[in-house]
Amino acid sequence: MALTLHSPLDMHLHLRDGEMLHNIAKESAHTFAGALVMPNLVPPVTDKAALLAYKARILEAIGDEHFRPNMTLFFKPDYDRAFLETLREEITAIKLYPAGITTNSEGGVSGFDVEELRPTLQAMSDLGIPLCIHGETNGFVMDREAEFVPIYEKLAKAFPKLKIIMEHITTKESVAALERFENLYATITLHHLIITLDDVAGGMLQPHLFCKPIAKRPEDREALLDVALRAHPKVMFGSDSAPHPKHAKEACGCAAGVFTAPIALQVLTALFERHNALEKLQDFVSGNAQKIYGITPIPKRVTLSKEPFTVPAEYNGVVPMYAGETLEYSIKEVTDG
Ligand code: NCD
Ligand code: ZN
Repeated sequence: MALTLHSPLDMHLHLRDGEMLHNIAKESAHTFAGALVMPNLVPPVTDKAALLAYKARILEAIGDEHFRPNMTLFFKPDYDRAFLETLREEITAIKLYPAGITTNSEGGVSGFDVEELRPTLQAMSDLGIPLCIHGETNGFVMDREAEFVPIYEKLAKAFPKLKIIMEHITTKESVAALERFENLYATITLHHLIITLDDVAGGMLQPHLFCKPIAKRPEDREALLDVALRAHPKVMFGSDSAPHPKHAKEACGCAAGVFTAPIALQVLTALFERHNALEKLQDFVSGNAQKIYGITPIPKRVTLSKEPFTVPAEYNGVVPMYAGETLEYSIKEVTDG
């Protein structure tokens, strides 16, 4: 049993910088044709020089892999149209973080007053630049995403031509919001299709499954699975693979983020097969993103075969999801074209 995916895309990826970038970039660049690269570096990517320099460092880190980093800028409310025009060809989206909500988001937005955000959002809408949002309030941790839905709706209504991507959705409330507004879309991670809060904290605490947003209830996972497995045209794969060094995860004060880049396609294939949905996987991992973002990826063919793959315990000091476990599918061959 073998399956070939064409130009898989990861539409939400943390590639980091410096040593970590060099240590983990190839894990995505080998099996994906491209990814939407998050801008939450220290300091965040907020100007053209920083963006181009970061892109160059990514291209250097991936060596001879055929992979396109689709770059994002860290949202600030006062970017004006002239500034964004100079960046239009360099960015695929702008990423908005509520201030302090997750790793390296301190410079994000506090308060969601439409008029305060209008300079940037109107310019983005006019220039056709999609807006990606980490949609969580600072309320009770299990309610943060559902509490953010009215903010998504306020923005979707105020800027009807702006494409808004609800990043890494984890709740049935977010799935329902997709249907109410034409300009709302979503990414879904691998881990949120598989785990619930029980897997994180129901038994011994599992730091390597701790992420933002935290995994929710079984009925939330069902709602995510329902739209992912039929490749609903408004959802696409975004791993939110977010590596942290092992010592930062296995710590008193565990960093948020699950590292899934090296196992994502293998596990997605097994998951879609188990649900008799293999014919939908191509759209979920590439076709839908191409349409939503209007992008044409680098041609790449990734063949997976039903042969066991034992996941390494670590990738250069980063512990992946399923470390030490054996998966049903392995990457058999990657070819250009
Ligand atoms: C991400 C990170 O580590 O950069 N962490 C996470 O838990 N997902 C940031 C994010 O996407 O929230
Ligand atoms: Zn993320």
